[in-house]
Amino acid sequence: MSSRIPLPYSPKVLELFRSPKNLGRMDDANAIAAAGSLACGDMITIYLKIDEQAERIIDASFESYGCAANIATASLLTEIIKEKSLREAWSISWKQLSDELGGLPPIKYHCGILAVGALRRAIRAYYKDRVKPDWLPEELTPDERHALEEEELVKILSKRISVGRSGQDKDQ
Ligand code: FES
Repeated sequence: MSSRIPLPYSPKVLELFRSPKNLGRMDDANAIAAAGSLACGDMITIYLKIDEQAERIIDASFESYGCAANIATASLLTEIIKEKSLREAWSISWKQLSDELGGLPPIKYHCGILAVGALRRAIRAYYKDRVKPDWLPEELTPDERHALEEEELVKILSKRISVGRSGQDKDQ
């Protein structure tokens, strides 16, 4: 008998998990960020197609190797940011998304933060070789720090795994 208790996901989360919008790779994106969460080891990639003149998002999509909460949040996020300016997209919070989803279970907050952190990393990547606008903070925001760059996440996780293994070796 399984002891797992189903998470109290809202109907909206379940609906977007089953039929996510904007799922998939975008070949003509001009801003991309892959980011992962140390809390669970899951990854997400955000793709943006940006009108460079207007600094406006024309299209957005995502790939997620995360849970239902992450997929639903990313689905909603990529819908909301279409036609928004980069500045407006930057200011969207995971809490706002969670509210629109009917609330995420507390142990799933990090999944929403991961989606927003990846979007912010994609916006930051877009400005890497461009003149930075004054609304873009110099320092990484907490959401971006939570959404680690892929290489950083892999490095930390493999270190954890090898520490775990050497601990196991000692026990054997
Ligand atoms: Fe990893 Fe939700 S548990 S993204």
